[in-house]
Parts: sequence; C-alpha cells; structure tokens
Amino acid sequence: MSLQDKDRIFTNLYGFQDWGLKAAQVRGDWDHTKKLLERGQDAIIDEIKASGLRGRGGAGFPTGLKWSFMPKESRDGRPSFLVINADESEPGSCKDREIIRHDPHKLIEGALVAGYAMRARAAYIYIRGEYIREAETLQAAIDQAYEAGLIGKNASGSGYDFDVFMHRGAGAYICGEETAMIESLEGKKGQPRLKPPFPAGAGLYGCPTTVNNVESIAVVPTILRRGATWFSSFGRDNNKGTKLFQISGHVEKPCVVEEAMSIPFRELIEKHCGGITGGWDNLLAVIPGGSSVPLVPAEQIMDAPMDFDGLRDVGSGLGTAAVIVMDKSTDIVRAISRLSYFYKHESCGQCTPCREGTGWMWRVMERLRTGDAAIEEIDMLQQVTKQVEGHTICALGDAAAWPIQGLIRHFRPELERRINEHNAKFAEAAE
Ligand code: NAI
Ligand code: SF4
Repeated sequence: MSLQDKDRIFTNLYGFQDWGLKAAQVRGDWDHTKKLLERGQDAIIDEIKASGLRGRGGAGFPTGLKWSFMPKESRDGRPSFLVINADESEPGSCKDREIIRHDPHKLIEGALVAGYAMRARAAYIYIRGEYIREAETLQAAIDQAYEAGLIGKNASGSGYDFDVFMHRGAGAYICGEETAMIESLEGKKGQPRLKPPFPAGAGLYGCPTTVNNVESIAVVPTILRRGATWFSSFGRDNNKGTKLFQISGHVEKPCVVEEAMSIPFRELIEKHCGGITGGWDNLLAVIPGGSSVPLVPAEQIMDAPMDFDGLRDVGSGLGTAAVIVMDKSTDIVRAISRLSYFYKHESCGQCTPCREGTGWMWRVMERLRTGDAAIEEIDMLQQVTKQVEGHTICALGDAAAWPIQGLIRHFRPELERRINEHNAKFAEAAE
C-alpha cells in the first residue's frame, strides 16, 4: 500500500509553511505533550515497541528495544542522556536535513518524549558541521521551545526537567558512528570505541546513553498520538511504518519523499520521480541505501520491496534509504572507485585493516578504472575486501568493502573488458 497525504508524518517536508513554533502547533506538534508524558515511561516504550519502529539511521535496530536497555534507576547518581545523531554524512543521504530545516519542532518534541521515556536528563543533538543554516534554524527552534516552557524546567508542565543542547560537528564522517560521536561530544578526537559496552551501559561521560537518528526521534510524538496500530499498518512484518526516501541521480525529478515502507522500487520512482531518465530500459544499477550498501543491477531491483528484508534479499540493504539511481551513461567503475576514495579519506586510522585496506582498495580500484591491472587482481581485491569486512572496530570497514564486493559480483565482465582493452592497446603500441 502506498501512502496518502493524510498519512504523512512530515507535513511540512518541503517548507511550504513556516518552520516556527506557532505554525508547528497549527500542524499538531506540541499538542498536549504533557498528556503524552503522563502515560508513563514504560507505556511509551511499549507503544514504540508495538509500532515496529526500527532505527532510521541505517542499521535498523528496533527503537523501543534500544530504549528499554536504559536503566530504570540511576546508578551512583549518574544521569542518563539521549544523543540525537544529526551528523548526516552518508553519501546520498539528505532526509534529516529536510526535517531540521522545515519541521524542527517535531524533532524537539520527540527529544522530550523519548528522553522522558528513557529517563534521560538531557538530549544532545549532534549536527553535521556543514549544515550551517540548518543549525541556525534548529537553535532558534530550541530557543522558542525553551521560551514557551515546552522544554527546560518543568517541561511542558509535566514536572520533568529536560534540556536540549545542540552541538555542531566539524566535518568528519566518522563522527556519525555513535561512539565516535560520544567521544567528540566529550571534546576528544572522534574515534569509535569498542562495543560492548554499548552506550546504554557506558555512553556520554560514562553515563547510560541512547543514540538515535533524527528521523527515529521525530516520528515518535505522531506514533504516540495516532497509535502503534496506525503506524504498523504501513509496510509488512519486520518492516513497519512510513519512511523518508531520498532519491538522487538519473531520475526525472530527484526528491525526498515520505512513503510507506516496502513500496516496490518501480512504484516509488514512477510515483514520485517521474521515472528514469531515458526510460526504464536505460537503468543500469541502483545503490538503494546510501553509499555503505552494495549496488543492485537494474533487473534485480525493479520489483524489490524498499525495506530491510526486501533489499537484503537482493544482496543489499535499506541503510538510510538514500536511493542513488544510475543510468547507462554512468561509468560504474569510476563511481565505485570514487566511493572507495571517500572511505579511505574518512577512515579514522585506528584499525590496521581499515587504515591500510581502504587505501589499498582505492588504489586497485583506480587501476581497474583505467584497465591498468592484471585479471588476477580482481580476485585479489575481492579477498582484501573479505579481510577488511568484519575485522574492524566500527562499520566503516564493512562500508568500504561492500560497494566493491557488489561491483565485482555484478560487473566482473566490465572490469575484465577494461583490462583486456588496455592490454590490447598496450600490445598494439609495442608492435
Ligand atoms: P550497529 O548495528 O552496530 O548498531 C545499531 C544500533 O543498535 C546502535 O545504536 C547500537 O548501540 C545498538 N545495538 C546493536 N546491538 C546491540 C546490543 N547487543 N545491545 C545494545 N545495543 C545494541 O550499527 P551502527 O554501526 O550503529 O550503524 C551502521 C549503519 O549506519 C550502516 O548500516 C549505515 O547504513 C548507517 N550509516 C548512516 C549514516 C548517516 O549519515 N545516517 C552514516 C554512516 C553510516
Ligand atoms: Fe576507524 Fe576504520 Fe577502525 Fe572504524 S573501522 S575505527 S573508521 S579505522
């Protein structure tokens, strides 16, 4: 089932209305928030669990379950914290930006409700450094909420004290990894920590912490108001709710759009993007979930349900739902090589397989791009990706390996063609 306008959570996604408090209240935000809180912490967590909401930042961990890991009683007087990940840096991803630009009060109200449910003292919103205007809007919205008594002491008249702080990043992709983000918030160099312990055990300043994505938090008040049953009526088992898709590349009208989870790829593109440039026969491949997931060739993606399971079944993933569409004019080897460069550049350098492997993989990819490689190096590259995958502290190593694995799996003949062509030219010149 695809989504109708009345079912959209983000009713100001395109900024046709004002983002400010008054307009947000007209749209239904901050409506009797106190009553939502009066349901009690456990009831709120149970409702989010029942809704089937899974983390919208890429990994898809069940949100209510994650909140339930937070302690019910303070240990040694330590506070708990909510950290909201607005460090949106995954190539292709731009949905959290739209929420912050046009619907920031959904996020701030969600922070209060989620923070209250997990007994957090405060929320830290860590926003990507490049989002300069968005940070200004977000801070202004936070100020409005304080001024109106919606957050701060006795937030929304609930008797609960809850602060919201915004923190700007400085341009490092790795600070989007939750433990690197915590390090960065503490004023240290942003490098991932080993897990476990997970943040709920030892997070910000060593205190219990939950890190959630912007979209995951911003949908919470609407889920509570409209009910878990309403939210879970969209999508299918294990893949519930509505979702922001960000479609870029070779479509007629690139866009960010809220749709029902599990909508088939072809329907998503036809309904919201006006089709593929040059028609469906011109589609080459799609990276369906941001640059960290493998590409899927045209014939396999057409009917795939756009959700966690549907995209896993075609060897990829939903990730952030940043759908990068590539038509037949794309130099697919160059595109993946450019992504390899990105991961090499963003590796924090802590683990040897990632620090050394990302540079190695990029250099081989560059030679494959020009064809200046030996045929055996394709398998050698595949082996290196396997040695990086699963052998690093954080998921950046996997993210660097998977796009290359996808390329070799689906476009090996193209890699071989380039090498053979290059060799033929070389032989010709030598004669
Ligand atoms: P992950 O699977 O390690 O963890 C997901 C979440 O579940 C984390 O909050 C983690 O603390 C929690 N968790 C997992 N197992 C747990 C356990 N046993 N007990 C308690 N908590 C547990 O994935 P990660 O590294 O957080 O995220 C990777 C994803 O992030 C990638 O798939 C990628 O799609 C996405 N990503 C998104 C970016 C963006 O700009 N939004 C940027 C880069 C990556
Ligand atoms: Fe740093 Fe890469 Fe290791 Fe992650 S996998 S901790 S980015 S070196």
